[in-house]
Amino acid sequence: MSARYRILQPGDLDGLLNPSQAFGLEVLHGLSEHPKRLSSKFFYDDEGSRIFQQIMGLEEYYPTRCEYEILENNRGDIGEHLRGEAFNLVELGAGDGLKTNLLISRFLEKGMQFAYVPIDISAGAMNDLSESLIKKFPNLTMAGIVAEYFEALKWLSSITDKPSLILFLGSNLGNFSSSQARTFLRSLWNTLKEGDLVLIGFDLKKNIDVMLEAYNDRKGVTAAFNLNLLRRINRELGGNFSLDTFRFFATYNVFSGAIESYLVSKEEQDVYIEAVGQSFHFKAWEPIHTEYSYKYLISDIERLAAKTGFIIEKQYFDQKGYFVDSLWRVRKTG
Ligand code: AVJ
Repeated sequence: MSARYRILQPGDLDGLLNPSQAFGLEVLHGLSEHPKRLSSKFFYDDEGSRIFQQIMGLEEYYPTRCEYEILENNRGDIGEHLRGEAFNLVELGAGDGLKTNLLISRFLEKGMQFAYVPIDISAGAMNDLSESLIKKFPNLTMAGIVAEYFEALKWLSSITDKPSLILFLGSNLGNFSSSQARTFLRSLWNTLKEGDLVLIGFDLKKNIDVMLEAYNDRKGVTAAFNLNLLRRINRELGGNFSLDTFRFFATYNVFSGAIESYLVSKEEQDVYIEAVGQSFHFKAWEPIHTEYSYKYLISDIERLAAKTGFIIEKQYFDQKGYFVDSLWRVRKTG
């Protein structure tokens, strides 16, 4: 039998965990809690990444189109903030590079001197991105790094003194609570130098119906995206989740300012997961929390920048005012 899972034993938890063990351990923790939860960072296996691409193409999922519009209209202006110096264009999360293409093509046209440095934990995503970019831009200097963000950023800062423009697009920060976001941005600040720039995408608070529809799309793609997490547990950890006994539910919490996503068990049941060697009991209508997608006010963004050591240089909006790409500069003194 070729096992695609590992049984976790006490000794395994002392040293470094391999990715599958780490997944198993977090699933064990999350499903043992009340209320049960699973982290949205586990959405993105190959299948999940494919479904997310589909989400970005949905009519209801406005953030992708808004940010595309913003970058298309402001890429010249963004480039001017580099002040003609040679720089590193660093991207956190390789994604499909569609939005980044807009910046790269303009920067190359203008003859700007830069190296494109995407950082991603997925070697597969990095290969796909590199191949498509090098075809499109044969003259592009590119060095992809397959690693955790902060590991890669630390390494990068040790080999170059050039200024950096860091891209953190797509409202990816939205998955963090405000205290997690502060910790993340402080850590980012720590790896950067005085004068470095960061371009961050924030999804803004808006008409609640518009936000709800973006996560309750008519084709059920977002539901499939969430349910894939259970399928991933079945595949990688030997789980026996029956997908049609769970339903996806997303709601907006006006007080916390987040879209909250859940998978709800429609019946009382036990689910066995081989890799963690135990069953989990679900009562009828018991939820598993899967994701927070925080929405921001401009005042939230200003407070966040001030608390984490950045000066806001400029904010770029789409026409509807649904989304903002906020350009921050690192301040290390005074
Ligand atoms: C990739 C985190 C920005 O929260 O809107 C899309 C992920 N989840 N539809 C988001 C997601 C459901 C997305 N982010």
